[in-house]
This record gives sequence, C-alpha cells and structure tokens, in this order.
Amino acid sequence: MKLIIADSYEAASLEASKILLEQIKENPSSHLGLATGSTPLKLYEYMVADFKENGTSYKDIKSFNLDEYFGLEGTHPQSYRYFMMENLFNHVDILPENIHVPAGQGDIQENCDAYNAMLATEGVDLQLLGIGSNGHIGFNEPGTPFTQVTHCIELEEGTRQDNARLFFDGNIDEVPTHAVTMGIKNIMDSKKVLLMAFGENKAEPIRVLVEGEVSVDVPASVLQNHPDVTIIIDKAAASKLTKK
Ligand code: PGA
Repeated sequence: MKLIIADSYEAASLEASKILLEQIKENPSSHLGLATGSTPLKLYEYMVADFKENGTSYKDIKSFNLDEYFGLEGTHPQSYRYFMMENLFNHVDILPENIHVPAGQGDIQENCDAYNAMLATEGVDLQLLGIGSNGHIGFNEPGTPFTQVTHCIELEEGTRQDNARLFFDGNIDEVPTHAVTMGIKNIMDSKKVLLMAFGENKAEPIRVLVEGEVSVDVPASVLQNHPDVTIIIDKAAASKLTKK
C-alpha cells in the first residue's frame, strides 16, 4: 500500500490525475473504474483541463462506474450517470457505448447480474475510490460480506446525511434509501486501486484502512489485502494516523 499525504485537496487531486493519465498513456484502451461524490470533482476538472490542453484521448477507454442510486433515472440531476456526464464524459472524447454505470431502475437483479457478467469479462485496470465516513467503498456499507458482487443495498442514515450535505439541496428526504453498487469482490478484482480521501470526517476510516484491523465493520480495510493500492489524502484525513 502506497500512501501519499498531500498539502491540499488541489495538490492531491493533481497527483491523482497524474496516476490516471499515466494509466491512459501506458494503455490507451484501459478499463477505468470510476467514482462519484465530492472527492473526485477536482480530479475530473484536471482530467478535463488535460484533455483540452494536451488532447489525451479516451476514444479507446472503457469506463465502469461503481454505483448508482436506486430509483433514479440516468437523466436525473442527482443520478451518478448524470454526475459523470456533467463532470467528465461530456468534456472528453469517450464513446457513449464505452460508458458503463449500473442501472438504478428496471429489473435490479437482472441489471446486477449483467453488470457482474460484464465486469468478469472486461476486467478493470484501475479502480478509483472515495471512502465514506463509515468506511464504505462504493456503497458497500459496514457489514457487507467481502464476497459480494454488484447488488442493491440499503443506505445507512449517516451515508444519506453525508450525501444530502453536498447534494440534493441539503434535503435528506430526497436522498434515495437504496443504491446499486459494485461489490467488494468486484473492487478487489481490479488490477490497481487509487483511493482518495479529504477532510476530518475521513480520518477515522483512513486510520483503520491504513493501520487497523481488516474487518467488514470498515469495508475499506479489505484493501489491505489488495496487491496494488495507492491512497492519496490530505492532512485532515491523515490526522488520526499514528505510525510514521
Ligand atoms: P464523498 O463520498 O466523495 O462525497 O465524500 C465518498 C464516498 O461515499 O465514497
């Protein structure tokens, strides 16, 4: 596990963008596992800026997003598909047919089975992750077995509160109660993992991820068992680390 403690959100995001760009340059037909939320916003800004300035192409890239809210159409402004279109995909040359986000509507079991089959065939080269204040990755809430693949899950109250703080106009009643998420197994199957975390409220899950016990109570801790993980955090998220 490689840990980078950056001076700021901007510096951390720039560092993360270099890793993603390196991946794309090394293999222009990479399969990228992508994440939503407040954490990767700046990273995506840097990726868009790079595309405008340097033209790094996504035409052979395939993307596989981690999760989607249950019940929201991909055109809903709070859906994760919409988030990805607005913050990255509409601004680069990725092909629409190469964009994959779990469907939050329709026959959920059928959709999950299809997503799992696709992930098993395609594979993810580099998986980008945030982390929840409760230690979730994707929407795999505490208690989720490490063997799980893409599934529908009930969100914890705290997760819905966290997500209402920055999105949904602060209204928790608008935050769906469930989501469809890649499982821990899908995440662990990716070749490389790049996890980012910023702010005081990520300090405890980051402590457990870096130096705590591996347990389903803090799902991100499973990454201790992954062979190629890079963690980029700011000083606030590093504030509970005890080892140098
Ligand atoms: P955030 O969410 O980026 O909005 O903090 C991260 C997560 O829940 O994984």
